[in-house]
Amino acid sequence: CGIVGCILKTDKAAPVLLDCVQRLEYRGYDSVGIATYSSSGIKIRKDKGKIDEVSEELHLEELPGEVGIGHVRWATHGLPTRENAHPHTDCEGKIAVVHNGIIENYKELKDQLVSEGHQFLSQTDTEVIAHLIEKYHKEGFNLEGAINKAISKLHGSYAFAVISTDEPNKIMGVRKESPLILGLGDGEYFLASDAPAILQHTRRIIYLADHETFTMDEDGITVKDRNGQIVDKKVETIKWTPEMAQKGGYSHFMLKEIHEQPEAVKNTLSEVSDIENIVSQFPQFKRITFVACGTSHHASLVGKYLFEALLGLPTDVVLASEFEFSEGAIDPDSLVIFISQSGETADTLKALKIANKKAKTLAIVNVLGSTATREADYVIFTRAGPEIGVAATKTYISQLTCIYLLAACMGKNRELLDELQQIPDYMKTVLLLEEDIKEMAAKYKDAQDFFFIGRGFSYPTAMEGALKLKEITYIHGEGYAAGELKHGPLALIDDDVPVVAVVPPGKSHDRTLSNVEEVKARGARVIGLGSEDDQVLSYEASDMIKFPSQIRELISPLLYVVPLQLLSYHMSVQRGIDPDKPKNLAKCVTVE
Ligand code: G6P
Repeated sequence: CGIVGCILKTDKAAPVLLDCVQRLEYRGYDSVGIATYSSSGIKIRKDKGKIDEVSEELHLEELPGEVGIGHVRWATHGLPTRENAHPHTDCEGKIAVVHNGIIENYKELKDQLVSEGHQFLSQTDTEVIAHLIEKYHKEGFNLEGAINKAISKLHGSYAFAVISTDEPNKIMGVRKESPLILGLGDGEYFLASDAPAILQHTRRIIYLADHETFTMDEDGITVKDRNGQIVDKKVETIKWTPEMAQKGGYSHFMLKEIHEQPEAVKNTLSEVSDIENIVSQFPQFKRITFVACGTSHHASLVGKYLFEALLGLPTDVVLASEFEFSEGAIDPDSLVIFISQSGETADTLKALKIANKKAKTLAIVNVLGSTATREADYVIFTRAGPEIGVAATKTYISQLTCIYLLAACMGKNRELLDELQQIPDYMKTVLLLEEDIKEMAAKYKDAQDFFFIGRGFSYPTAMEGALKLKEITYIHGEGYAAGELKHGPLALIDDDVPVVAVVPPGKSHDRTLSNVEEVKARGARVIGLGSEDDQVLSYEASDMIKFPSQIRELISPLLYVVPLQLLSYHMSVQRGIDPDKPKNLAKCVTVE
């Protein structure tokens, strides 16, 4: 989602807001809306759909007023519909809110507000913000006091902006763990989730910190900290090119999405109560079958190792395109788990139709309202946000996070749930390796063939590393179970074929290490991925990617894949390829 807002000297806020939301289009969205304030009160126009189409239908730019807020929505709570599009209002339409983020405790807040007589029009988490502010405003707080009181009740991540008819000609809001910047024009003021939205109006930006609130009116902007003290904020002038700005400062969407992974994991972890609720409805399953394509298939393979290790349930993985030929893959006691970031992949949907006739189905999907979410018996959402790069990165990590949460909930494994909370911080540490990996990419980018090897939990990581390489560098890469090398592919290994070995500390470590020695003996250069204390691997490998030693094998798939994404990304760029748009490939394949 993205939010914008402005206070202008003329009554042309609506066309400016429309232009700003169009510039946030690259964040991905399914609905759009604008609210402005004028002498006739707050007016809102909004709907689901593409910005141009909604605008042509509703003439968003015709709303009157100098002050307004706008929103592009990527559905997370509630389907993409007109009612669920932002801005949202209180009961009387005197307060309008746009919000980016997730209010984790919205259900409890909503139940409480409904019991007090508030009527809700949408299924969104955002609408509780408008009603909470209304409630406290009616209890006698001014707008600022009511917003602060509302903030004290909210759990989760949020950046929101509010306009009100009781205190017109101002916009107030807050930032907590969701991006929000303020812009200073010439007697005009702006806000946005991201600088590209307002760059055409000003380059003078104030970056809000977490828990800071702001008030903007025709006289300027005031920022306060969580204790209500005024903060003297620095105004920075940014020098982005429009091209850079589109991608939030990263050179490609793929790189931006790789760096968004700690946040994607964090947001997906907040789904735990929904997952617990779904698991409580499960009958006794005797068997699990995962069905998926591409990167989602690799997430499924991790699921197999995890479910068998933690739950002791026999678990199969079937490629969606092979499902109709795999007669024995499921039975009435099976839970069939479909994994798909888009929820629209034709092979996966066809398999889902077949499975629905025989067994209970669960879809793990990133796009709300997509076909898979309507067809499966149970649905869990990954919270990666929109992914634009064709090669899946943050959706993969979010799928894995969901699979780990599901296994932890089914196995009532508190310890694993706690351990998962550490993943975002570990991932930030791993992302710091980028400069080293970029240098490594330069060394290896001219090879024509690669092998990626691993055992157990590391086998899917090897497969995913090889898939990323093929997709965006056009170099041949094969992901192989390390123990299988000797049954054929070893014949291909020589000093022209680098081998990427995934060797976290754990059960598979020593045996994969002996495969490393085997390929080295045939002349291969080895890139080793292992613990920072693994001196043997460090000695054997030509290049070593070191991970914090606390990352044990069972959780390693969530982290060890990240440098492999970066390695392929940098090789792709160094080979002059656009990693966001690899040839012959599509983000969502709707043909069988
Ligand atoms: C396409 C994409 C892949 C993706 C696969 C499955 O091939 O390019 O990145 O993994 O489809 O997509 P899904 O949306 O079902 O996860």
